[in-house]
Amino acid sequence: MRSLQWFVSLAVAVSPLLSLAAPNADPCAKIAGKTFVPPADGLACFKSFPFNETLRQNVLTNIARVFDFFTFEEYYLNSPPPFQESTDNIRATIARINSTKYKTDYDFNKDVYDFTTQLNDGHTRWFPACYTSFQNILPAPIISLADASGVQSVFIAPDSVEFISQLGTNYTSFFDDTLKFDWRRLAGAKVVQIEGQDPYAYVDMIARTVSGNYLDHGVRVNSVFTSYRISGTDFSQRIGDLAGPTGVVNTGLTFKLITVNSTKVETVTVPYLANYIGLPFTDSPSFWQANCAATDATNGVDLKSLRIIPPTPKRKLAKGVIIDVGNSNGLGLPQPFLPTTPSVNGSTGVIKSFVLPDKKTGVMFVGSFEGDFEAFQSDTVAAISAFKSAGVSQLILDLTNNGGGFVCLGQFLHQFLAGSKFGYPGFVSSNHANPLAQKIVASDIALGLDQTKAFYAPDNWAFLNDTEMPTTFNYMKPPMPFVVNGKQDPSSQRFHDTCQLSFTQPIPENPPFDLSKVAIVSNGNCASTCSMFSTLMNERHHTKIAVFGGKPGEQMEFKGMSGNQVLEWADLDTEIKTANLKNDPLAPPNLLVNGNFRHNWRTAWSFFDENKPIAYVSELPLLRFPFTKDTYNNPQNLWTFAATKLFT
Ligand SMILES: *[C@@H]1O[C@H](CO)[C@@H](O)[C@H](O)[C@H]1NC(C)=O
Ligand SMILES: *[C@@H]1O[C@H](CO)[C@@H](O)[C@H](O)[C@H]1NC(C)=O
Ligand SMILES: *[C@@H]1O[C@H](CO)[C@@H](O)[C@H](O)[C@H]1NC(C)=O
Ligand SMILES: *[C@@H]1O[C@H](CO)[C@@H](O)[C@H](O)[C@H]1NC(C)=O
Ligand SMILES: *[C@@H]1O[C@H](CO)[C@@H](O)[C@H](O)[C@H]1NC(C)=O
Ligand SMILES: *[C@@H]1O[C@H](CO)[C@@H](O)[C@H](O)[C@H]1NC(C)=O
Repeated sequence: MRSLQWFVSLAVAVSPLLSLAAPNADPCAKIAGKTFVPPADGLACFKSFPFNETLRQNVLTNIARVFDFFTFEEYYLNSPPPFQESTDNIRATIARINSTKYKTDYDFNKDVYDFTTQLNDGHTRWFPACYTSFQNILPAPIISLADASGVQSVFIAPDSVEFISQLGTNYTSFFDDTLKFDWRRLAGAKVVQIEGQDPYAYVDMIARTVSGNYLDHGVRVNSVFTSYRISGTDFSQRIGDLAGPTGVVNTGLTFKLITVNSTKVETVTVPYLANYIGLPFTDSPSFWQANCAATDATNGVDLKSLRIIPPTPKRKLAKGVIIDVGNSNGLGLPQPFLPTTPSVNGSTGVIKSFVLPDKKTGVMFVGSFEGDFEAFQSDTVAAISAFKSAGVSQLILDLTNNGGGFVCLGQFLHQFLAGSKFGYPGFVSSNHANPLAQKIVASDIALGLDQTKAFYAPDNWAFLNDTEMPTTFNYMKPPMPFVVNGKQDPSSQRFHDTCQLSFTQPIPENPPFDLSKVAIVSNGNCASTCSMFSTLMNERHHTKIAVFGGKPGEQMEFKGMSGNQVLEWADLDTEIKTANLKNDPLAPPNLLVNGNFRHNWRTAWSFFDENKPIAYVSELPLLRFPFTKDTYNNPQNLWTFAATKLFT
């Protein structure tokens, strides 16, 4: 409370002076060169760009025409349980945004951003580089923890001091020196209310409106909390969507809480301080130039016109991955919580592998399916071989906060664990047969394009007998009829991936470990390729899966977001341009601003029900556990606990 009053009185005292000194001061110039700024100052810069109808028509036309390629549009009309929260009439919302009056370019973009975020499909979102250039940070990340008797409550993360201090004195001095606000004493406090609401109700609200990415509400609840992860190739801690949201919406949050060793409930308003993660600028025009104006990479290119330097062009590699903007702020997992058991071979990349002190449990923490395509495969081989020579008899795969990556690396890991005898390691797939997609496939065939130039080229795929399609086979002719929520939703013929062609490591014939001794742990934030991998393990091998965290009493899937392949806007535009179809009236226009409207481009069909995309099949984990103060930020403690529960 004290700090809030101080904050308010400072503002009152200072602003008349400022306005006297510089009545038309450029709000972007005021924050230029600063890493951390009060969110209100960031917002003032954002709001300095007036609404522009030309840009609205450009962005909305682009988005509307990209949605034609989206695999799940018709599902949104009435999302099936338990995913009802993700219901939206997409065309009606576009029409609403087209006729809404906005004062600023930010207000328009924020509306589009919120609309696509709340579709809760991490593959299908509008990212305006201009307005995703700040991450707002509260020095009070939260987490739901169970006490010794199993009762769960929301706490300010007990490791907040070690964790937040890594932001450096440019962040902490704002609280310590400018505001004289003691945030350190809040670490570990029990939260009684947030903004006047029950803390779990407030968390549900953030999960509904801010988190996005995952169709399942229960999984989004875990995005709100802080959690451990691998960011790039390093152990990291994610701040969570309450304490680290994209943008500059909130200036502070009012908590009722009880600090450690106290019994007194007190009210504390904790200010946010926003971290600038965009490109350097000095004033409004240069802010626009650096972040908002389209760049050479915003739109696609005609790949036929590019000289390919290597003598043998490579296959294009499909991706299934979310964009976690806050990831750019890769804070380390504080040192005391890193695994103490030594890592084994193959742990320098996105996979970190360990033998637990029990000597019989091997752990592969698979942080993502990104990074070095070859190294992921050789690291898998190295880890499994190290486990074998250590005499390990059971394997835990930790998929916590795995945002996905290369589709074929998910299939590689599955194939490696299941053995080559298992056969095809992926899902049955298809893409959307909208009129422009049909024209692209026909044009790729006529132009003789192959998988080195186009994702639509037939030889990216195999028939269901795993024979690669010839480059002349039109898999969209005729489109296959399908009805979703009473609407026609035609797709291509169903096909298999051709990932086995890009595996560079030999696959053992038989599973290296008895598959009943392989288990998965995660926090449900397992997206795209990760979701496909864990769903394969569940649908094909009934692998034991344990999910940690979430809201007590609220259901939660083990997989977050189960699209299949994502195309960034520039990828789709490249497909269109390479097929000589940019002048088609159905083609989305080049973006005039630096933004990315990505979309889920392929469907993975469930083995449990071949008429349902895995995204819409509810698959619950066998086991659910709350986090405790010993496990929420300490992977080794979590694995040790999980080993006692998963293998009996
Ligand atoms: C603090 O911010 C200034 C610019 O405002 C920058 O020059 C300096 O490197 C930052 N210090 C740290 C420790 O990040
Ligand atoms: C709106 O944006 C377009 C495209 O960038 C630009 O040419 C035009 O000048 C802008 N209009 C106004 C009124 O600023
Ligand atoms: C927005 O509405 C205007 C006026 O009705 C129309 O001309 C335009 O095509 C619409 N734009 C989009 C993207 O739907
Ligand atoms: C709380 O009390 C325990 C036991 O007296 C003490 O070890 C600990 O340092 C105290 N923590 C805080 C934050 O005051
Ligand atoms: C780890 O890798 C090194 C170098 O490749 C190799 O010599 C060693 O045998 C490997 N260790 C295990 C346990 O596989
Ligand atoms: C696989 O299926 C395709 C399409 O039905 C067929 O043309 C091809 O001959 C089959 N290949 C094998 C090896 O059976």
